[in-house]
Amino acid sequence: MIYSVLLVCVGLASQASAICSRTMLQEATEAYIRAQAAGQTNMLPLAENVSYAENDTPMDIKKGVLTQPITIDFNRSLYDTTLCATFTELSAATNKNPYVINTRMLFTDDRITTIQSVVADSGDWAFDAKGQLSWTKKEKWDPIPESKRDSRTVIKAAGDAYLDSWGDSNVKVPYGTPCARLEGGMYTGDKSPTTNTCKMPQFPQPFKITNRRYVIDEEMGGVDIFNDFPFIDKTKPNGTASTNFIRVEGGLIRYIHETTVCATKNCGR
Ligand SMILES: *[C@@H]1O[C@H](CO)[C@@H](O)[C@H](O)[C@H]1NC(C)=O
Ligand SMILES: *[C@@H]1O[C@H](CO)[C@@H](O)[C@H](O)[C@H]1NC(C)=O
Ligand SMILES: *[C@@H]1O[C@H](CO)[C@@H](O)[C@H](O)[C@H]1NC(C)=O
Repeated sequence: MIYSVLLVCVGLASQASAICSRTMLQEATEAYIRAQAAGQTNMLPLAENVSYAENDTPMDIKKGVLTQPITIDFNRSLYDTTLCATFTELSAATNKNPYVINTRMLFTDDRITTIQSVVADSGDWAFDAKGQLSWTKKEKWDPIPESKRDSRTVIKAAGDAYLDSWGDSNVKVPYGTPCARLEGGMYTGDKSPTTNTCKMPQFPQPFKITNRRYVIDEEMGGVDIFNDFPFIDKTKPNGTASTNFIRVEGGLIRYIHETTVCATKNCGR
């Protein structure tokens, strides 16, 4: 049994204020990665009434990407002990059909009640799984020493300011120096690794990013925001499935990973 009573107790004792244990979330995430690698949904600690969606479309988990065995080259995760939630970014560049899969899971009583994935492959925004893998591997997302950790509020505000700034150039974003963005497989920090290359150009029209769903991890300085991104895909004026996975250090944004799904090749751009 991976969910041994002992481990859960140790987890709770070391995080008195947490709603659920980091250990439980880490073990469930490992189970998720193994289940995706094997293409076996029965390897997941699912609640009976689990809800499942890919790219904002609710579907039967037994018909989704989790039924395909996928070679996973690299993974990064966030563990949110306050919301009882996890976020995982899977890089599958050497899989026959290369993918980048971003998954958010919610828990009740140590069982998964919700799985939402943004599943990107060929034709999605700036998609290049090899590029994505090579850049993410070079980045440093070490745990942040306890005395230097930002609060949930600070981490969330940094992520929100970044998303708000796309449609409103007056929003001040706490970018760090350096700051680099990995957008599909394209890396802004490639030629200028010591400067802030995250600042977004002004979009031609104002818009708001809606349906934001958060996973926040103070230890990793991370926030992931699932959202509906309007404007980019002309066939989806109300927003296409997108996620921004952000690392914050000392209140300032260090890394941004964006994965956006397109209904038409490269969102028709
Ligand atoms: C699923 O079941 C859990 C407890 O078993 C309950 O807390 C939750 O509200 C249920 N979710 C839905 C969508 O019915
Ligand atoms: C996921 O990443 C961890 C390191 O963070 C590694 O130990 C583990 O083997 C990885 N899993 C897979 C399937 O690549
Ligand atoms: C976008 O949202 C508006 C308002 O909710 C709705 O009337 C319209 O049908 C939606 N468009 C698409 C393409 O879904």
